[in-house]
Amino acid sequence: MCGIVGYIGGKEALPVLLNGLKRLEYRGYDSAGIALFGPAGLTVHKSKGRIRELEEKISAEKLPGMVGIGHTRWATHGEPSDINSHPQTDAEGRVAVVHNGIIENYGRLKEWLISKGLIFKSETDTEVVANLINFYYKDDILSAVREAVKRLEGSYALGIIAAGESDRIIAVRRESPLVVGLGKGENLIASDVPALLEYTREVYYLEDGEIAVLYRDHAEVYNGEGQAIEKEVSLIQWDAAAAEKGGFEHFMLKEIHEQPRALTDTLRARIRTNTDGASINLEEIGFNESWTRENSGRVVITACGTAWHAGVIGKYAFEHYAGIPVDVDTASEFRYRNPVFDPKDIFIVISQSGETADTLAAMRLAKQGGARIIAITNVVGSTLAREADLVMYTWAGPEIAVASTKAFTTQLACLYLIALKFGVLRGRIQKADMAKYIEALEAIPAQAETILSGKTNIQRFASLQFNKNKVFFMGRLFDYAACLESALKLKEISYAHSEAFAAGEIKHGPIALVDTSTLIVALCTQSSLFDKMESSITQVKARGAAVAVITWEDCKRFDRIADEVFRIPKTEDGFSPILSVIPAQLFAYYCSVLRGLDPDKPRNLAKSVTVE
Ligand code: F6R
Repeated sequence: MCGIVGYIGGKEALPVLLNGLKRLEYRGYDSAGIALFGPAGLTVHKSKGRIRELEEKISAEKLPGMVGIGHTRWATHGEPSDINSHPQTDAEGRVAVVHNGIIENYGRLKEWLISKGLIFKSETDTEVVANLINFYYKDDILSAVREAVKRLEGSYALGIIAAGESDRIIAVRRESPLVVGLGKGENLIASDVPALLEYTREVYYLEDGEIAVLYRDHAEVYNGEGQAIEKEVSLIQWDAAAAEKGGFEHFMLKEIHEQPRALTDTLRARIRTNTDGASINLEEIGFNESWTRENSGRVVITACGTAWHAGVIGKYAFEHYAGIPVDVDTASEFRYRNPVFDPKDIFIVISQSGETADTLAAMRLAKQGGARIIAITNVVGSTLAREADLVMYTWAGPEIAVASTKAFTTQLACLYLIALKFGVLRGRIQKADMAKYIEALEAIPAQAETILSGKTNIQRFASLQFNKNKVFFMGRLFDYAACLESALKLKEISYAHSEAFAAGEIKHGPIALVDTSTLIVALCTQSSLFDKMESSITQVKARGAAVAVITWEDCKRFDRIADEVFRIPKTEDGFSPILSVIPAQLFAYYCSVLRGLDPDKPRNLAKSVTVE
């Protein structure tokens, strides 16, 4: 995600801001910018690309000033560009804002501001925030921010400075982290601790709804009701490396823990609730009835690796919820097998990076065949996003660990939303069912959090099993598809030989491999097939395998036959992979660490495979 830094004090702000932004580079970004108060008033300088490019751009200018805010942007609304970079200002240039997070109602607010005569320069939700604050800004920026945030829906951490009030910085957050650094004669804000470490280790962690006002010599904090509050000062004990990982030992573990937030961002912005009930709104990606009307009735999904596993689950979801036949194929196979197209096919291409060579080649082939392309990607402005007809972004934020975790579960979230929307447009899903599905989707982030809070149980299990070199995941339907991803996670980062089998296939060959050295992880969330799973488990137990089961919290029937049972909160059977994969991610992570490996950098693997 994006990075925020702000400084007010006795030093020149520019080097402090640039230095702070460099400390946040590890998070990934596509542009950078700063706003400063100097003799010329409030000035903004920004550039697409690296911080180095911003430095080159301003190198000829002297930019004195002891108050400023800075930002590294990871694009969500609008491509990476100078104009879309932060800080964003209002149309009069009175308010400068840096922002992390996603304003879900920015479209409606933008229309409202346009109706008041305002003209927008960028595609960002942040420019809407700047204009909204300025709308309320008479002579007190703090009151203006209080009024503006009342109207914001979604997640935000904001750093704000305003012309005419060069003695203070305002900071406010909701569901996006923001830290106030307390120095001697200087104060700072940052989205992440590494940006502060050189200046102070004393901080306030802002809570949702709190507003901080930073002056040179002190900082005030107000609660959501506007009352001044006494915050406890926290002392940061982390070194720089631990701070980059938010206190987690590895990026992978951090990213596993970011899933509740990433899922909230990806799901919530697409779900609307009004007096008519809840519905899925994909107008933001231009997905409407014409797509289903003109559809031949077939969907084709292609991707690589983890993204392909999301595609397999997508196939099951489209067939189950929308009644549409789906072909799903790895992009590397698809591109070489003379696929047959109908120009009325809807082609869904999934890629975290949006740059995978095979996936791009498959998409181009489908385009030549006349198919319409929906891309699901995590990177705004990536080649895939640029070349597809429609783009649905996963708002997972940058993924640094090579093994994909939060990108996968947010890809699933997108696929469920499209499948359900298709189901409604094709008349397969009625209102009452839709309400039930949306309620289930909305509960998923909190359910993911519940699984994470029980991670020590998985760690304990991993400490018993981490040396196993034959680990097979088995399940049926959605569980089988989740097994594919679970097995890949384990083999990628622990180098154990792990495979996924459709449980019904075990007796057609794989059971020959099963002996007392085998660990079987059985995913059991498809309630209608519990009997079948029980019988498959019995068969592998009879060959001496140890069996762990992942099942619903209220399901006791496997306790009798399994050596270990992990329970996950109950959701729709079809949505289970989004939750059941989390224990598998944690198991893979702990096995890797227990084997003395680096889960963030597995051997022979690259984060983005841009060559064949
Ligand atoms: C596995 C993993 C890879 C990627 C694959 C496709 O953890 O990360 O299997 O999923 O290389 O990458 P993207 O999604 O960037 O196209």
